[in-house]
Amino acid sequence: SSIRKIAVAVDGPAGAGKSSISKLVAQRLGYLYIDTGAMYRAITWAALHAGVDVKDEIKVTALLPSIDLRLEPTKDSFRVYVNNREITADIRSQAVTGHVSQVASYKSVREFLVEKQRQMARCGGVILDGRDIGSVVLPDAELKIYLTASVDARAHRRWLEVKDIEEVSLEDIKRSVKERDLMDTTRKESPLICVPEAVVVDSSNMSFDNTVEHIMKLIIDKSALL
Ligand code: DC
Repeated sequence: SSIRKIAVAVDGPAGAGKSSISKLVAQRLGYLYIDTGAMYRAITWAALHAGVDVKDEIKVTALLPSIDLRLEPTKDSFRVYVNNREITADIRSQAVTGHVSQVASYKSVREFLVEKQRQMARCGGVILDGRDIGSVVLPDAELKIYLTASVDARAHRRWLEVKDIEEVSLEDIKRSVKERDLMDTTRKESPLICVPEAVVVDSSNMSFDNTVEHIMKLIIDKSALL
């Protein structure tokens, strides 16, 4: 059997390190990395930019046909464009982060993006990270990974990232991690679930490098079996 490139689904809760790990694994294996969270963020940015009330599902839905969303791969990451304007940094703003869960809960938005995600993934050799990749976007993905970590571990990592930038307590971060978990797992449209066929990777007691190595091995082993 020869090694061939497969489709990999990476799902899991916020703060488990899905994006940074998937990005690096993709780069090392020569795969295309697709950050689906960035796509929900881009739609949220477009709605805010257009002055649309993001709590108004009908208005957000009406805006979708006018949004030309593009993820452009770079050597080690990707750039995000809406109607040819680069918004790579803008989608990480507090405003976007504060409204994206709402926008991601709309069925119309999810259908619009899932269609795009499937198109982007159709050539194989892709790693998609998100919440509904193994369950909805790519139910036939050759490898599904559920990357998780304890609330304590995720909150602590987040705290290390932000403690020098803003004054926040570990307790506050823990609370917001729990809130996001609850929203992601209980929403009506495509909630975060761990599908039975997924390989669970709990990184609570693993270093970043170990997790990258472990996931690369899962992909290489899986491709060698096909
Ligand atoms: O992973 P992230 O924080 O960039 O995701 C942003 C938001 O989008 C988060 O509220 C979860 C949501 N999301 C989703 O509903 N489905 C996906 N496939 C990816 C992200």
